[in-house]
Amino acid sequence: MHFDILTLFPSFIEDNPYFKHSIIGRAIEQKIIKVRAHDIRKHSRNKHNKVDDTPYGGGAGMLMTCQPLFDSIKAIKKKNKGPVIFLTPQGKQLTNTRVRELAKNPELILLCGRYEGIDQRVRDELIDEEYSIGPYVLTGGELPAMVLVDAVTRQLPGALHDDESALEDSFSRKLKGKKEYPHYTKPANFKGLKVPDVLLSGNHAEIEKWRMKNLR
Ligand SMILES: C[S@@+](CC[C@H](N)C(=O)[O-])C[C@H]1O[C@@H](n2cnc3c(N)ncnc32)[C@H](O)[C@@H]1O
Repeated sequence: MHFDILTLFPSFIEDNPYFKHSIIGRAIEQKIIKVRAHDIRKHSRNKHNKVDDTPYGGGAGMLMTCQPLFDSIKAIKKKNKGPVIFLTPQGKQLTNTRVRELAKNPELILLCGRYEGIDQRVRDELIDEEYSIGPYVLTGGELPAMVLVDAVTRQLPGALHDDESALEDSFSRKLKGKKEYPHYTKPANFKGLKVPDVLLSGNHAEIEKWRMKNLR
């Protein structure tokens, strides 16, 4: 899966240790995913490389302008044939079901907004899908893009040590979209806090029954 991320801060993605370690780092090393960041500013034709301007009609803040966004998206679309996704609090909630759908694409283009957002004409003309990572406002789309990359990568074959674990995570089909049951590890008795007896019983049918009853 190839992710091309359009941003005003490519180093937030390229230099991020989050993409160098653990599951995501391994997925990159094993070429299960490729993550490339592209600087939108490089496409600005303004003599000061400006990428933002004041909103028509007034109001607070600045907006990312059409020209650098049109040019950078068009340039990346020559190499990446996947849908163009804009991360925005106004988008559809990024649920596990949507993450599983996104994981079916061999390529994705992710656009990170900044300031008060982007000119509506970019959304109308060039954006295929819009996702929010939650009902709150962040400073930019880079963290949401990284969240999407992480969640999608976990769905790809070979990304997790045990492919089964994504199938049994919270919101999975096996758990009927519900949240996972409580987990315990050794010791069985920690300062008087005991693990439920059924989990120590070795009776797999009973354990499964207990787990399904304790979904949250
Ligand atoms: C300060 S926010 C703009 C918020 C916008 N004025 C609004 O009220 O919806 C700047 C950028 O951060 C990103 N962003 C912020 N919160 C987000 C969220 N919850 N999900 C996805 N992207 C988000 C978007 O790319 C957005 O364009």
